[in-house]
Amino acid sequence: MLDEVGRMLSSSHTSPTGLPHGAVTVEASRTTAIAAEGLTKRFGDLVAVDHIDLRVKEGEVFGFLGPNGAGKTTTIRMLTTLTPPSGGRACVAGHDVMMDPLNAKRNFAVVPETSNAYDELTVWGNLMFAGELHAMPRSRREAVAEDMLGLLALTEHRQKRGGHLSKGLKRRLVLAMALMSSPRILFLDEPSSGLDVDSTRMLRELVRRLASGGMTVFLTTHNIEEANRVCDRVAIIVRGRIVATGAPEELRMTVDASRSVEVALREDRPSMEGALSALPSVTQVRREGDKWRLFTPSPPEVLDALAGLIHDEGLHPVSINTLGPSLEDVFVALTREDARGGGPA
Ligand SMILES: Nc1ncnc2c1ncn2[C@@H]1O[C@H](COP(=O)(O)OP(=O)(O)OP(=O)(O)O)[C@@H](O)[C@H]1O
Ligand SMILES: [Mg+2]
Repeated sequence: MLDEVGRMLSSSHTSPTGLPHGAVTVEASRTTAIAAEGLTKRFGDLVAVDHIDLRVKEGEVFGFLGPNGAGKTTTIRMLTTLTPPSGGRACVAGHDVMMDPLNAKRNFAVVPETSNAYDELTVWGNLMFAGELHAMPRSRREAVAEDMLGLLALTEHRQKRGGHLSKGLKRRLVLAMALMSSPRILFLDEPSSGLDVDSTRMLRELVRRLASGGMTVFLTTHNIEEANRVCDRVAIIVRGRIVATGAPEELRMTVDASRSVEVALREDRPSMEGALSALPSVTQVRREGDKWRLFTPSPPEVLDALAGLIHDEGLHPVSINTLGPSLEDVFVALTREDARGGGPA
């Protein structure tokens, strides 16, 4: 990792990523966009971020997944020069965030957890203001802002004041403001928090599109589904420490309780849990909403036995599925391990 941070410092380059509408300059080689080594933040006795190492490649969507209070926002604040680390170092776009914050800042934009749009300015006014902050000439500012309105479906809201926007619209405006400068790296802190299904889907599609155009996206989330759907790689952070890093699929493979059979039955009898637990090769039974989840090393064996039980007891199945391990299983397993003092995996 030391080598990685060092290499980034010696091969610093600052070509901007053009936006929008896919008009993005893709760099020929994929290098490291974000690197951290032993990055640490203490607040008094609390170690909020505890010696984390990270390496995010250009054009990658990297998810920082963890429960509330895990240290996600604090990490973003250190990487984006808003708060100084207590230890370790970090480079963004090849620039050390402590030694060369100005050049680091030229390469990234942040969408923080809470809105930074001005309530008294209109949507258009906020976009113009964001462009001015980046010293964009007026004609370019206006052209990019028009594109942003289209990209984030804000055109019909352009004259609304920031203070009059719904939460979801405001979130989209803040994202549009961040994209005004065509950053190479985009930090999103809990991007879909408070968004409805449509807005969440739009945001996820946009993130994937930005990444396919060459932008690096670093997002935090406690939503496992989001990490699974959007991210190329995920780091799981629990109480300040990274306990696992990998592609969602890779992380899934690491869990022991690898497979399961999920069954929904019309009947809801008190004896059901016992009967399902007694089926051969079932190692654990969990109630999940209206379904039962039966963990097993051998789904076919469980399916056979389940068919027998359904027949013998006169039960009516609504659905039966075999499932691989979910990212949620990994998350729960690692969080438990950490709580028991198991340490990073
Ligand atoms: N300025 C501060 N002073 C003292 N403690 C802080 C400060 N900022 C954060 N913390 C603490 O550091 C820990 C990590 O907080 P952080 O905001 O990074 O978590 P998070 O993973 O972003 O959580 P969430 O999912 O709730 O946003 C928490 O225990 C929090 O209370
Ligand atoms: Mg946070």
